[in-house]
Parts: sequence; C-alpha cells; structure tokens
Amino acid sequence: MDLRAALLRHVTRPPRSAGEPMVDSAPVARARARERSDGYRRGGRGGVRRKLIWAIALAAAGLLLSACSNGGPQDTWDPAGPVAQQQKDLLVPILWIAAGVFVFVEGGFILISLRFRHRKGRDRIPAQTHGNSRLEIGWTIAPAVVLAIVMVPTVAMIWELDVRDPEAMQVTVKGYQWWWGFEYADEDMTTAYGEGQPIILADVLVIPEDTPVELTLVTAGGGARDEAGVPDFQVNHSFWVPRLFGKQDAIPTDEGHILFSADEPGTYWGQCAEFCGLQHTKMKFRVVVLDQPSWETWVARQKEGGDLPADPLAAQGMDLFLNGDFEGGQCTACHTIGDTAAAGTAGPNLTHFADPTHECFAGCDWETYVDGQPNLEALKAWLRDPGAVKQGAKMPDYDLTEDEIDAIAAYLYSLR
Ligand code: CUA
Repeated sequence: MDLRAALLRHVTRPPRSAGEPMVDSAPVARARARERSDGYRRGGRGGVRRKLIWAIALAAAGLLLSACSNGGPQDTWDPAGPVAQQQKDLLVPILWIAAGVFVFVEGGFILISLRFRHRKGRDRIPAQTHGNSRLEIGWTIAPAVVLAIVMVPTVAMIWELDVRDPEAMQVTVKGYQWWWGFEYADEDMTTAYGEGQPIILADVLVIPEDTPVELTLVTAGGGARDEAGVPDFQVNHSFWVPRLFGKQDAIPTDEGHILFSADEPGTYWGQCAEFCGLQHTKMKFRVVVLDQPSWETWVARQKEGGDLPADPLAAQGMDLFLNGDFEGGQCTACHTIGDTAAAGTAGPNLTHFADPTHECFAGCDWETYVDGQPNLEALKAWLRDPGAVKQGAKMPDYDLTEDEIDAIAAYLYSLR
C-alpha cells in the first residue's frame, strides 16, 4: 500500500488563498528554531561534526587501501594456471560493467541530490514522479538487461569448468579441523609400506608442473570418530588457491571437484574460505609445483617409509613417539609414520615431515624451515601445549617434559 499521499497530507493543508505557499510553514519554523537553539549551524557544532565525519571517512579509506598489496602470495590478479587465467578473463570485463553501473547510478544520485536539494526560502514540495510508468518500466528492464548480458559468459564458464577428467592425476582433498590432508588416489601413487596405502600429505599438496590434476573435495571432521565410525565435526570448508583456481566447497553431503594445472614450478598459497570453527582463518595450505625430474625424485622418496634416525636424541624421540604412554594417550593414536607401528589416521601423516617440500606445518601456521634451519622453537612450542599456540587445536597436551619435547622434535626433523 502506498502511504505517501497520507504522509504528505499530514504536513500539508489546502492553500488558504491564492499565492499562499502549499506547505504549512509551522513545522519549518519550528525546525529552524530548534537549529538555532542547538547552535547547529555552519561554523558551530555542525562544522566540528563535518570535520569529524571527514576524518573518519579518510581513516576508513586509509584502512581499506592499506589492505591492498602488490604481488602478494594470494593474488587473484596474478594467475599461474589456465583455470585461474580463464576466471580472471571473465572477472575483468564484468568488473568494468559493474564499474559503469556504479558510476551511472552513484553519479545520478549525487547529481540529483545536489541539483534538487532543499534551499533556503523554498517551502514548496517538488513535483512528485510517483506512478511514472515510463521510469518504472525503464529501471526495471535496464538492470535485467545488464544481468542477462553478464549471465551469458558466467553460466557458460560454470559449465565449462565443471568437467571431470579420469586421465588426470587424482587427489582426494580432506578438510579436517583445521588442516588439509591430501591423498593421492592413483594406482601408481601407492607406498611400499603398510598394505600399499596411498601417499598421504598434510598442509602441502605437491604436484608436477603443467599436468592436469583433479581434486575431489570432502570434509573429514575433527579427528575423532563416534561409535558408528562417523567422523565428528564434519563442518563445511572451502578450498581456494587464488593464483590457481577459485573457491570450491568441501561439505559433508556432496563431493566437490576441481580440475586444474599449474604452469610453472613454485609455491602457491591457499586458504580455507568458509568459516569452519575457531581456527578457520589459520586453516592455510600450500601447493608446491615441481618440474618433472624433481617430481619423479619426490614420488620415489614418498613411496618409502620414514628413515631410521642415526642421531641418538632422534632415536630416543622415535622410541617416545612409538612407545611413549603419556598422560592422556599416545602419538600413534592419531599419526602415521610409514614403516613404523604408528598408523593413526585422525591427524597428519608425518612420514616425511622434514622433506623440503613440506614447507609448513600445523595448518601452515609455521614454516618448517627458517633460513634453511629447522624451526625447532615453533615445533617445540606446539608439542609443549598445542592449545596454547593454536586455540581449539584437536592435538591434546600430553604434559611432555622438556627432554621428551627435545627428543620428539629431533625425531620429526630426521624424517626427510
Ligand atoms: Cu576450514 Cu574455514
């Protein structure tokens, strides 16, 4: 129901005689009196308020612009593979169309606001255009036409990118709380240990350059399972590597798929893009792309189990890791280390924890190496009290002594 006529009637009354203004001047006079008594006028408190608004706007713009950076590791504008390139090629023209709409609408808005603003001595209500069919039809059809134009290439690309390729390298991506696990599903990517289980990585996905890779995205819970074997905390995640491909959900009810490839060797940063709990913002990962010879060496190495440590401290750490019965549990309950008795699956597979391609750990919160040296301080802080350095982390605090922490850290860094 249109109430504007009734509202207008409230502030207007029929002219008493010819030449008299349409609008009741009493409310206007009252408002002016209020302005005077408030000291609300140019140069007074209004001036201060205006300056304050400008200061806040400038500070907000400064904050917004300081968030921009050039050449960051997660730069959508710097695609490093055909999928990201295609998505950018679609995004750029659509952004230009959106910019055109913005300038037209906001420009018109500002122009009309200035041109028809209230001026001193003007008590007349401007001509009302309500019910102007031409305008109404015009501003209904114009956005529909713009959306239809944008929709054609967008929907076409959704179909184009939603393809599967059984010939591509197959990797299952599992979203845990809060880290990503990668399982190589191809037959030639199984290990020599266990019962020929697949190569499994945590935090870093390693792929060869210029090779189609098909990811199957699932959500894998927080580690523990209920009595029926169903993982707990099967929350929604979203898998995103801005320089390689757009976001794709990892949800409990359906599998997501991404078919992509990377042009050049290098490291590409990724990020969980859907709120999934306490450590969502730090559910990071990386994609390391290797040239063909490095890839073959890497695969051969991954198929083997963990090294037996030569260093006595590391050997002691291995014993603690495999046989230590700490207050609260054992490392082996959650972690696998190939060729040992450790076969837990709730936490990251640590078989090649110290391999140089495993650039980061614990949801990529820490670099595994800093200036080429093991990042022992970070690993020890993590072992000392996981919840203290990563709130909500599912890894329990086993109350390890400093000696035990030193030994276990030495062991993990011997797993190259
Ligand atoms: Cu996983 Cu956000």
